[in-house]
Amino acid sequence: MTSRAPLGWSCQCTDGRARAGTLHTAHGEVPTPVFMPVGTAGTVKGMTADGVRATGARIVLGNTYHLMLRPGAERVAALGGLHTMMDWHGPILTDSGGFQVMSLSQLRKLDQDGVTFQSHINGQKFRLTPERSIEIQHLLDADVTMCFDECTPFPATHEVAAQSMRLSMAWAARSRAAFTERPGYGLFGIQQGSVFEDLRAESARALRGIGFEGYAIGGLAVGEGQEEMFRTLDFSVPMLPETHPRYLMGVGTPGDIIGAVRRGVDMFDCVIPTRSGRTGRAYTSGGVLNMRNARHGDNTAPLDPDCDCPACTRHSRGYLQHLFKAGEMLGPILLTWHNIRYYQCLMQRLREAILAGRFEAEAAVIEAGWSASRQ
Ligand code: GUN
Ligand code: ZN
Repeated sequence: MTSRAPLGWSCQCTDGRARAGTLHTAHGEVPTPVFMPVGTAGTVKGMTADGVRATGARIVLGNTYHLMLRPGAERVAALGGLHTMMDWHGPILTDSGGFQVMSLSQLRKLDQDGVTFQSHINGQKFRLTPERSIEIQHLLDADVTMCFDECTPFPATHEVAAQSMRLSMAWAARSRAAFTERPGYGLFGIQQGSVFEDLRAESARALRGIGFEGYAIGGLAVGEGQEEMFRTLDFSVPMLPETHPRYLMGVGTPGDIIGAVRRGVDMFDCVIPTRSGRTGRAYTSGGVLNMRNARHGDNTAPLDPDCDCPACTRHSRGYLQHLFKAGEMLGPILLTWHNIRYYQCLMQRLREAILAGRFEAEAAVIEAGWSASRQ
């Protein structure tokens, strides 16, 4: 990448539809396929930035919605931007706010120009438009800015999904116009259209016409189920330019991610590893374990013998069970670390398998481990 180029992505290798590539940003390079831990409010909950980096994560996600409410976008900028504020000096992708407004705020009112809503924190009134969302993401200093969109609720009729998608495409054009190009920074479009092939195609055409540094698939993992999500990805992913990174928003479980990488997706984010870590659920090479379960109480074995994180190399399952039972904050901290490390190792294995031309064989080995009864 020359220093004046916008954010870019290069493909090293494909295996079927799966791709191994590199994202080039102002704050460094990111191997893909990649999982981005969610740092909603300027922190990956329970982790220091050094801890996040030690898991292997190279890019994190931040949220326009949460940060505009608290501490406020202008204050983040005054504190030196999100990288400095968080002490995270790698790339950051920020979501644009529309999705979080619809899922978190009360009394929201959508019109063609934008959305007015009340803060879920104190009821204060706010407004987001494509222009303001992009301005906020500039103030945060996001390497990857997301278009302001509406995530179409599921299920939606064809007519409702069409109207919603067309609104998002009008907002995508306004987002592009509001975005200031800078070397190493980029704007991603977001395809909508629910589970309808003709609408996904219309949306992809609109986005390609505008032109973006990357293309996200939105409006999935909203209750349609894995089978329907994969069916939708089967036709939606090939509609997006193969020269650019593709990002499936808000996904998912390890099984969802393998299925989406198989279908040509390069980037993921999800609260699953962090949120479930806080509630005692651990993703391991042997499947999902609930560490609050009393059956782990006397167990001296590590959480996951295949994992090199602090929870697995320094502690027993019995100790982890004790921490959760006693309500000790170290329990959520250790399981969050473990889960993020598990996700990072999963992505690295998938990437190396793609480079070696053995993606399907590796996916089969990983999936077989989840059902093996060695717990
Ligand atoms: N996160 C999960 N799905 C979506 C979506 O459709 N749009 C946005 N902006 N964020 C999301
Ligand atoms: Zn571990």
